[in-house]
Amino acid sequence: MSNAIAIGPFAQIITMKGLPLKGALSDDQLEIVEDGALLVESGRVSAVAKAKAIRSMATEVGATWHELEKPQVATPGLIDAHTHICFAGSRAKDYAARSAGKTYLEIAQAGGGIWDTVLKTRAASQEELSKSVLQRSARLLQSGITTVEVKSGYALTVEGELKMLRAIQAARERGPIDIIPTCLPAHIVPKDFGGNAMEYVAYLLAEFFPIVQREQLAKRADIFVEAEAFGLAEARHYLSTLQERGFDLTVHADQFSVGGSQVAIDCGAYSADHLEASGETEIQALAKSDVIPVALPGASLGLGCAFTPGRRLLDAGASLAIASDWNPGSAPMGDLLTSASIFGMAEKLSLAEVLSGITFRGAAALGLNDRGRLVEGQLADITGFETTDYREIFYQQGQLRPSSVWKKGQLI
Ligand code: NIG
Ligand code: FE
Repeated sequence: MSNAIAIGPFAQIITMKGLPLKGALSDDQLEIVEDGALLVESGRVSAVAKAKAIRSMATEVGATWHELEKPQVATPGLIDAHTHICFAGSRAKDYAARSAGKTYLEIAQAGGGIWDTVLKTRAASQEELSKSVLQRSARLLQSGITTVEVKSGYALTVEGELKMLRAIQAARERGPIDIIPTCLPAHIVPKDFGGNAMEYVAYLLAEFFPIVQREQLAKRADIFVEAEAFGLAEARHYLSTLQERGFDLTVHADQFSVGGSQVAIDCGAYSADHLEASGETEIQALAKSDVIPVALPGASLGLGCAFTPGRRLLDAGASLAIASDWNPGSAPMGDLLTSASIFGMAEKLSLAEVLSGITFRGAAALGLNDRGRLVEGQLADITGFETTDYREIFYQQGQLRPSSVWKKGQLI
């Protein structure tokens, strides 16, 4: 029996076909297949065309039809390339303090911030953490996200960080959303570590990462480069050692002060994330490199800070992914589409640039080239919105929720 399925007709299919990885885009570069359908075989897209053409192909290969009752617009399944959704507790108290004028760094210095979440996450069991990832990823799936990156980084001991990665792994095995795990044991130097930042990095390299590799818990590693977290020398040592060991790299860079993005470039990272503080030098360097800049507008909204200079990055010729950064501190909203829509309006991005940032450019930030476009050979991850005009998706700033989500050709 054929495992082929055909899905349609869609009022519009936004394929993202042929769009470049780097640089500015205009909406008229979008390929829009009107009255279209998709043919899916073995979980991958095998054809995108007018519904009429797909109907005859479907008959030929004996595909099952999934007839859509109401008009929908299809986009590639959305990709959230940066989250911290494995955590315990709430930081509503920090939020109130920030809203009243305290800064993120002042709150951290007073004992709140990341350390507060570390204490709560250390106290949680692996099962509780896994459940928290499952609950939050179910919400993401409902928002049209079919691939999500999830970081460790709220335990900051060998055992605690392994507990987080195992919790993420357990959630990952439950599916259907694809979870890409990342090690972030270098989030801050834990207050109870008896040594400096370089000694903590050496401890992680010696004691933590060999176990991660042995148990195949993650292939990606991240570090928060900032005065209150890790300096440039520690970051270079950490990243270059992990690159030699075969890890894919990403960096929390230039959030409050610059320096991290250059380390990301020099160490061959896939992405440099945040970049709110990046200036002309950093923008030009990123544009010349293969590093994908990742904007995290949810953090700007959660902190009341400036946005990543998305417009200037794109105009300089850089790529630009957009992710939610969902975490209990700086980005509690955790809504990719809402934050990306607001960011697009604030930064004067075309809708093609916003959609690229949460589809194939987000995939590239994760080193994935098998998703993010609805073209032949790509995973059949599809998000359907009940409308006839794709612009409504951004115009409604996250309030138009997907009415169907397909993961590898399966309706969720
Ligand atoms: O991406 N900047 C550092 N890390 C996270 C925030 C983590 C937290 O506040 O709990 C971020 O914003
Ligand atoms: Fe983050």
